[in-house]
Amino acid sequence: MQRDFDHPPCRRGTLSNKWDRVGELFGNPDALPMWVADTDFPVPDSVMQALRERMQHPVFGYHYPPDTLYQSIVDRMGSHHGWRIEPEWIVFGTGVITDLNAAITAASMVGDEILLQPPVYYPFFASIENLGRRVVENPLVLDSGRYHMDFANLEAAFAPRTMFPARQPRIAGMILCSPHNPVGRVWSRETLERLGDLCLREGIPLISDEIHCDLLVGDAPHTVAASLSPEMERNTITLMSANKTYNVPGLKASFSIIPDPGMRARFVRARATAGSPNTLGLVALEAAMRDEDGYLSALCAYLQENLRTFRDGIADLPGIQLVEPQGTYLVWVDMRGLGMDDDALARFMVHDVGIAPDYGFAFGTGGEGFCRVNLGCSRAMVVEAVARLRAALGSFCEPDQ
Ligand SMILES: Cc1ncc(COP(=O)(O)O)c(C=O)c1O
Repeated sequence: MQRDFDHPPCRRGTLSNKWDRVGELFGNPDALPMWVADTDFPVPDSVMQALRERMQHPVFGYHYPPDTLYQSIVDRMGSHHGWRIEPEWIVFGTGVITDLNAAITAASMVGDEILLQPPVYYPFFASIENLGRRVVENPLVLDSGRYHMDFANLEAAFAPRTMFPARQPRIAGMILCSPHNPVGRVWSRETLERLGDLCLREGIPLISDEIHCDLLVGDAPHTVAASLSPEMERNTITLMSANKTYNVPGLKASFSIIPDPGMRARFVRARATAGSPNTLGLVALEAAMRDEDGYLSALCAYLQENLRTFRDGIADLPGIQLVEPQGTYLVWVDMRGLGMDDDALARFMVHDVGIAPDYGFAFGTGGEGFCRVNLGCSRAMVVEAVARLRAALGSFCEPDQ
């Protein structure tokens, strides 16, 4: 089915964080809203249809997920990821970040350390700290335009640091972001195997946030970390939702796949106060998992073209460089060549260029001097963003008269 991603509905005046709060939060109401990670695209027709049908019934009490929803996820994991899962491994939630909090609680104790790999989606830091755990970092390494995991550092971090480990904080879990927001890396099977083996060897559970797993914009296939082996399955909590791909984060539904019964029981207990998923969210999730109108492939094709437009448009600009993404609709732009500190770069982007991005420094170590730009928008907006960057950087780079 042909989709008109070129003409998304106007979101102004819909209480959209991304569109309606640009003036308030960035100080320039005319800046292009390219920050919050939702797309501007309407949900698939099949999702809208399912929601309309449910809306015919006027009672919105407490509900439970139907068997058909479990089955839609089992089918989706099989067809899209070659992963055979059991329905009882699935736990529904209200959002991936809430689920991440439950996963941290399930995997660790207060005072434990949780490892993550910055620059990374910033709520990970707050989740760990708010739960009384400590952040340990294994910063990603940018080498020849591509991010890598630093395995030597990871091994050192995992190794016991004292002869009396019981008295020391210990790394009790690792958060993997796969594909990685904000750098757009789709981790290869080999990398995930190496990481998985290391976690298994050291007895460290993996919390794998795979919310962006569908959004592939390069040639690399996505590998679900837990699908690598039965041992990995038992050592991994996989977090997913339809929120990114099908643009339904406001409907508050998500799911976690936890094959290990003990871990699953701890997870369920940890999220006992997090509330049940939104009734409409579950309806949307099931229709999205079935993707009867082929939305996903049309979306990825459109996003690939948006990426090409952005990449080609800024290729010759001095001082900025795109980190080529393989996944997500977000691009990570290296602006360190402009020689600005974070405040100056933020002012430059919002007021001189006219783009409201997510600032790189918010993503932690290694994010300074970068901006994350959301290309989940119409092609016309990408073209406009490129034009604004060219105009501002052209004058920025002009020699003094
Ligand atoms: C890696 C990652 N995890 C989680 C989320 C948020 O998910 P949710 O809205 O389901 O909490 C995002 C949103 O940008 C994300 O990029």
